[in-house]
Amino acid sequence: MEIDLDGSFLERAHECAEFLRDAGDLLLVSHIDADGLTSAGVASTALDRAGIDHETRFSKQLDDDDLDQIEEDGYDVVLFTDFGSGLLDEVVERDFTPVVADHHQPNGDCDYHLNPLLFDIDGSSELSGAGTAYVLARALEEDDDNRDLAALAVVGAVGDMQNQGGGLTGANREVVREGVEAGVLEAKQDLLLFGRQTRPLPKLLEYSTDVFIPGISKNSSGAKELLEKAGVEAKNGDGWRRWVDLSGDERDRVTNTLFRECAKRGVDSGQIEELVGETYTLLNEEPGTEMRDASEFSTLLNSTARYERADVGFAVCKGDRGEALAEARDLLNGHRSNLRAGVEFVGDNGVTKLDNLQYFDAGDEIRDTIVGIVAGMSYSLSEVDRSKPVIAFADADGENEKKVSSRGTKSLVRQGLNLAEVMSECSSAVGGDGGGHDIAAGATIPEDAVDEFVDEVDTVVAEQIS
Ligand code: C5P
Ligand code: C5P
Ligand code: ZN
Repeated sequence: MEIDLDGSFLERAHECAEFLRDAGDLLLVSHIDADGLTSAGVASTALDRAGIDHETRFSKQLDDDDLDQIEEDGYDVVLFTDFGSGLLDEVVERDFTPVVADHHQPNGDCDYHLNPLLFDIDGSSELSGAGTAYVLARALEEDDDNRDLAALAVVGAVGDMQNQGGGLTGANREVVREGVEAGVLEAKQDLLLFGRQTRPLPKLLEYSTDVFIPGISKNSSGAKELLEKAGVEAKNGDGWRRWVDLSGDERDRVTNTLFRECAKRGVDSGQIEELVGETYTLLNEEPGTEMRDASEFSTLLNSTARYERADVGFAVCKGDRGEALAEARDLLNGHRSNLRAGVEFVGDNGVTKLDNLQYFDAGDEIRDTIVGIVAGMSYSLSEVDRSKPVIAFADADGENEKKVSSRGTKSLVRQGLNLAEVMSECSSAVGGDGGGHDIAAGATIPEDAVDEFVDEVDTVVAEQIS
């Protein structure tokens, strides 16, 4: 059976797949975030199964240096996943044949260019890099054998936050459907709090900050009291119970009590609704582990790749549940405390508000690879205004360079905001580079251009939203 996506999109996938079968020296290159790692996991597993030899490497942001290195290494064909489209005008000039499976806004085109945006599918909300790699993987098999990879593809989509608004939509739904049919995935409505598989119950509630619940969020005794009110034991003997340890009835009781308490404490009804949504369980994974839940899995992967250990996350994607997983869990602890410290930094230092944006410069206090995640999380702070995009700066690797990350909301995008365009235009106006998605994008700019850049962004956002 065929994945039920637009016919021409599938046709392109088959052209790419056919070309890859005789690729010669093949290199797979992918992006260093959860979607990039799962993209590579999907593509590499499918290539292995098809008997196509390849090597794999990762990059933080595809640039000329990466392309120089690849050329020097003499590969015939390079498969780019989760990036490549944005730099295609330069990639096609190079001494290898590119195959691109990406969902970022294209700059240029090539013969083997698989990107949902070329087929009227929204790449920022309806299909991720891993979903695009999945379509390619499906085309690499004559029968349904690669449908199990839908589970990883869903982890990628969730990692790119494409489930915002209560669940995956668009082409992503086809991927979910195939995963469910293949028996590797369960999709069901549940509490959306992070950590259903691994967090002790009180912490699950206490760390709910996307929806801030007065008296429960950031309040451990309040969280414990709520469990008591719901008549649910928080402990089992000496150990804390987790959400996965509860019976269906217990989960309902906690959810209903939580709803009641939220209403009592003045949380608005729209926000209360956001506490529940579709969740994705990877049925072949051990219950109570990070990999069992798409959201926890994606965070585990971010903890590796964004700290120069993409090899670790990639190994986990390819099935390593031994050494690589242990290492990933170590890295996860560090990542969690860095995110916490990052959001705290924004809370303590505040943001500077202009007419059409708000920004902060973290200097070297927040790593450039996670400053975008922190920017998105900062919307949960009272000092951050949901009616304006957040622009975040951090010191970049390159000397005298700043990394820029920008994040918006769905509502802003509906009003016309396109941060990919903003980042691309405004960075080139000051001698930098950028791109991404309408709702989330990034750039690198000269360090001394921050003020000018911010003014440019303020102007362009005003034009988009008016
Ligand atoms: O490079 P890539 O496409 O993987 O990055 C997408 C980024 O956009 C992720 O960091 C994700 O967290 C962010 N995003 C967001 N809000 C959304 C959709 C994506 O912050 N609604
Ligand atoms: O780095 P950050 O998480 O802010 O990236 C958000 C989105 O912008 C990602 O999809 C990333 O691939 C894209 N981006 C880009 N060019 C850059 C920086 C980020 O296309 N220079
Ligand atoms: Zn992506």
